Formats: sequence, C-alpha cells, structure tokens
Amino acid sequence: MRYELICGDCFEKMREIPNHKVLKKIIEIASNENSIVLDCFGGVNSTGEAALQLNRRYIGIEINPVYYQASVNRLKKYGERVE
Ligand SMILES: C[S@@+](CC[C@H](N)C(=O)[O-])C[C@H]1O[C@@H](n2cnc3c(N)ncnc32)[C@H](O)[C@@H]1O
Repeated sequence: MRYELICGDCFEKMREIPNHKVLKKIIEIASNENSIVLDCFGGVNSTGEAALQLNRRYIGIEINPVYYQASVNRLKKYGERVE
C-alpha cells in the first residue's frame, strides 16, 4: 500500500522483473559511467554487482561478516580492488 502512494502501480509491475534487472535499470538512470555507487546496507551486494557490470565504481558496507564474505566472493571477479 505504501508503494502505491509513492509510485502508483510500479511496485506491482516491478515484482514481475528480476531484482537484478531492476537494480541495473535504477543505476543506469541515476548515475553515469565511472560514478561511485554507495550501498550502506550492502547485504550480499546485488547492488554492487549491478553497478560493476555497468562500469560504475562501488562502495558497499555490510555489518554481517557472513554476508560480507559472500560479497567479496561474489564481486572479486570484477577486479583486484575488492577487499
Ligand atoms: C536488505 S539487506 C540489503 C540488500 C542490498 N542493498 C542489495 O542490494 O542486495 C540489508 C543489509 O543491511 C545490513 N545492515 C544492517 N545494519 C547495518 C549497519 N549498521 N551497517 C552495515 N550494514 C548493516 C544487514 O546485515 C543486511 O545484510
């Protein structure tokens, strides 16, 4: 219901689209190549993967060490500076 207030029926439409595709579209629209995308609640860093695939730089912050390590494993194929 809350989403309806913000963006009409787009939430219902977006549920049909895989999360990764939605993130990529948002990043593509909201930033330029080589911009820095910051996700302060990174989780397993789906946002980071989408950002790196679109040639953005990425900073992800994650408090949970299990999710953090999963993120490192997930993102290291995109470059040497994943730490
Ligand atoms: C819903 S997930 C984020 C999903 C993520 N943005 C993505 O693109 O897939 C929220 C994450 O925030 C993390 N978190 C919660 N409090 C935090 C804090 N104070 N600092 C860093 N991460 C935090 C949780 O551990 C959880 O993994």
